[in-house]
Amino acid sequence: MPDSARETFPLRVNGVTHHLTVDPRTTLLDALREHLSLTGAKKGCDHGQCGACTVLLDGRRVNSCLILAISQQNAQITTIEGLGTPEDLHPVQREMLEHDGFQCGYCTPGQVCSAVGMLAEVNDGWPSAVTEDTPELSREEVRERMSGNLCRCGAYPNIVDAILEAAR
Ligand code: FES
Ligand code: FES
Repeated sequence: MPDSARETFPLRVNGVTHHLTVDPRTTLLDALREHLSLTGAKKGCDHGQCGACTVLLDGRRVNSCLILAISQQNAQITTIEGLGTPEDLHPVQREMLEHDGFQCGYCTPGQVCSAVGMLAEVNDGWPSAVTEDTPELSREEVRERMSGNLCRCGAYPNIVDAILEAAR
């Protein structure tokens, strides 16, 4: 692609501003993985169906495969790399380890980012398809609210345990 067809724009990820020069059609997921070497967010389907690519935009969870990077120049983007460190895990990360909330781990970064965003939604009183009012965070609530994140290994019961424990 000729340079004239590329766009240069800033992207603020995990507190650091990067300047990318890319095809303006580049998705946020590809920008993170291919241009910033942040490979925590995974490309499962690239069609908004699996949740493996979930990251946080201004604290809200999104499927980064469905978003153009160039449209997020003013957002604070948080990826799994920015949530915790091996020495200082985010509570959701810690509980995923404690509860064996994964097998192959491919879906895990998306599960963790989605859970962090989901718990913020609950704190903000967002309803779900299960309940109309601010709910008790039951297993059913967690399953409904995390239904956009698929796990081919079927680690769902332990993922729910981990999220409930992190919520406490
Ligand atoms: Fe984005 Fe599957 S890779 S939803
Ligand atoms: Fe393998 Fe979820 S742990 S896909």
